[in-house]
Amino acid sequence: MELKGLILSGGKGTRLRPLTYTRAKQLIPIAGKPNLFYALEDLLEAGIRDIGVVLSPETGDEVRAALGDGSRWGVRLTYIVQEAPLGIAHAVKTAQGFLSDSPFVLYLGDNLLSGGIKHLVEEYRQTRPEAIVLLTPVEDPRAFGVVVLDGAGKVVRLLEKPKDPPSNLALVGVYLFSPAIHSIINRLKPSGRGEYEITEAIQGLVDEGKRVVAHQVRGWWKDTGKPEDLLDANRLALSSLTRRVEGELADSQVVGEVVVEPGARIVRSTVRGPAYVGAGAHIEDSFVGPYTAIGKDAKVIASEVEYSILMDEAQVYRLPYRLDSSVLGQGVVVDGQGNARRHTLQLVLGDRSRVRL
Ligand code: TTP
Repeated sequence: MELKGLILSGGKGTRLRPLTYTRAKQLIPIAGKPNLFYALEDLLEAGIRDIGVVLSPETGDEVRAALGDGSRWGVRLTYIVQEAPLGIAHAVKTAQGFLSDSPFVLYLGDNLLSGGIKHLVEEYRQTRPEAIVLLTPVEDPRAFGVVVLDGAGKVVRLLEKPKDPPSNLALVGVYLFSPAIHSIINRLKPSGRGEYEITEAIQGLVDEGKRVVAHQVRGWWKDTGKPEDLLDANRLALSSLTRRVEGELADSQVVGEVVVEPGARIVRSTVRGPAYVGAGAHIEDSFVGPYTAIGKDAKVIASEVEYSILMDEAQVYRLPYRLDSSVLGQGVVVDGQGNARRHTLQLVLGDRSRVRL
């Protein structure tokens, strides 16, 4: 039976407010591309072409508009609306009609993996365990699903956001499941925080003596749940860019691994990579420093920007400070009105915010 893909693109995104008041967190651009597209491309690279996408009623239309029917990638997309964000296991339950009796990859739409999932899908096809989970050591496991392994590396226990973590191994948001998971999910009760937890469902497999395989993540992994994670994911994704300059440069220096999309204009400025400049963006009399992604039709005029994400049509004018570690939503305008340059400014601004300094 061929594997299907299930990408979760619902949820509340409360930790990314105000950005998530106006957009799905899975559509926030990371190195110029919506987070969700990376998940889709990982599935595609692993040969999975039948993909379900779980949506929330609030942001579903926007996600549908971004992905379309999947023909751009040559995949078949099925949209599934989850009426309320009752947990990851609940999202899987909502998708049972689509998943039927196929094994599947569950991919949280706000996760990013540098190593892809091809090797895991190949392993699944060859060895057919009941589940493959991915782990990575983290500094503070209290915010994650945590896994305890025995001496032989076998999964013995899983806990969701434990107050007193018994290990530092966190579950990454990519899982491979056989259809055996469904009967366990159907018996789950909501947890203390009122959600149907995927960790409890996997614990159910372990308790039944089913084969649950755990692997450490190859390369880097990022869950973009908080603004600082967005910036770090952007940094990591930009780090693997290859230089491609198609826009127009005038009296400017573009140094290192920089992508300048067609129609972008860079005038009397320096862009130091790794950085991304979207189509139609305009940079003039400015410095764009490493780990910055500038969205489509955005403007940076007489300003310095570093380690930041400017979404489409965001505009920064005559800033007296260097903008650093900032996330500016679509159409945001920050106008410094040309005071002397000093210090830095750190902002997380939702779509269409206005700041005058
Ligand atoms: P989370 O980041 O755990 O939850 P959230 O999106 O509600 O965010 P916050 O905690 O900031 O309020 O969700 C992980 C991924 O799974 C994310 O892409 C959203 C998705 N998801 C669903 O599709 N349905 C759900 O019921 C939940 C809880 C998450």
